[in-house]
Amino acid sequence: MQTDIILTGQVLSFDRWPFGDSPADSATLSGAVLLRQGRIADVGTVAALTQKAPDAIVHNHGDALITAGFVDAHVHYPQTAMIASWGKRLIDWLNSYTFPEELRFADPIYAARIAGRYLDLTLANGTTTVVSYCTIHPASVDAFFTAARSRGLRAVAGKTCMDRNAPADLLDTARSAYDDSKALLEKWHGVDRLSYAITPRFSPTSTPAQLEALGTLWAEHPDCLMQTHLSEQTDEIAWVKSLYPTARDYLETYEMHGLLGARGLYGHAIHLEPRERDRLAEVGGALIHCPTSNTFIGSGLFDMAARITEGQRVGLATDTGGGSSFSMLRTMAAAYEIGQLSGTALHPAQLLWLATAGSAQALQMGDRIGNITVGMEADLVVLDLASTPAIAQRSARAGEIWEALFPTIMMGDDRAIRQVWVGGKQAI
Ligand code: GUN
Ligand code: ZN
Repeated sequence: MQTDIILTGQVLSFDRWPFGDSPADSATLSGAVLLRQGRIADVGTVAALTQKAPDAIVHNHGDALITAGFVDAHVHYPQTAMIASWGKRLIDWLNSYTFPEELRFADPIYAARIAGRYLDLTLANGTTTVVSYCTIHPASVDAFFTAARSRGLRAVAGKTCMDRNAPADLLDTARSAYDDSKALLEKWHGVDRLSYAITPRFSPTSTPAQLEALGTLWAEHPDCLMQTHLSEQTDEIAWVKSLYPTARDYLETYEMHGLLGARGLYGHAIHLEPRERDRLAEVGGALIHCPTSNTFIGSGLFDMAARITEGQRVGLATDTGGGSSFSMLRTMAAAYEIGQLSGTALHPAQLLWLATAGSAQALQMGDRIGNITVGMEADLVVLDLASTPAIAQRSARAGEIWEALFPTIMMGDDRAIRQVWVGGKQAI
């Protein structure tokens, strides 16, 4: 029997999708949240919850904001040590920095060290769920899941599959990609809070035979997620066209091999053609917006407002280490800035929703994580809305919660993360 925990503060729960009328009214604030047996047992006033759980340990957080932990829907944990590598665009960046680093993951000890380092960095930034690519090495998947499990995290990951256009030591085959992915899936999917994602890196590094094999695996395990990259840079799209001459567009290279579905996570998805947008909306595949990466690698502007209007499901992600940050606060800020360049000022409620409930829904996990409501898993972050002098002097002037939160979104970093709770246990 675990001890009950009560956190007091400004507990924020989303009541509805914040992209309709009046985003400011999409959430409710309560004074306290009760954690019991790893879940959210109640949300209400301090008086009501202390009466309900008189033996609870109470953590008083004053006027700090208590929200669901952040959900980062697309990362590459193996790129932790080469984040912020200078001066290249996507294909050169992969060849110059990414592939040499990923070769190091042939060593399971190195993989374990980076997996631990990565999860410590993201927890310190308030992220309680990540969806990560690993490398082609099965041991890199074991390393990641072992590190996530020991921290009690809900986490998703998969072996990155590539059988062409990468260094020889980073290539598998259609057969071994299927066999290794299947063995890892059987080993890890559904263990504690872990889930497996079938992971073809992107069409340029897979032969049609490999995409076909992974499409078959997904059909055999339809409850798994599938993650890949889609239409990130224009050079990449031209390359895909030359590699798959019979496909009408980039999305069709996945679709024709059984890799388009509602449990598909399509990273970036910036430069989509009308047919691709229609198919994605129809099928319900999730577009994962990676704003710091899109500016850092020079990929382009994802038009969030247009995608939401046409009915796409959208998640938010750092894309570490193409992205230049481990922080979902910084990622929300970048999404805001890109929104401005595309003509829409995203409301703080929309930004926070994307980083929590929206990403959780993209992973089809919106019934378990991403919000503070009764029955949800107790993954929470306590945000200090006055974590630096610059932020404090601005938030002191704020009239309401969204105005108080926005300076932390725009200027906050890991100093704003006062506490992190994972499955009802304090992690930070
Ligand atoms: N496209 C294929 N692989 C990658 C990767 O590792 N990072 C990014 N940003 N795009 C990719
Ligand atoms: Zn990526």
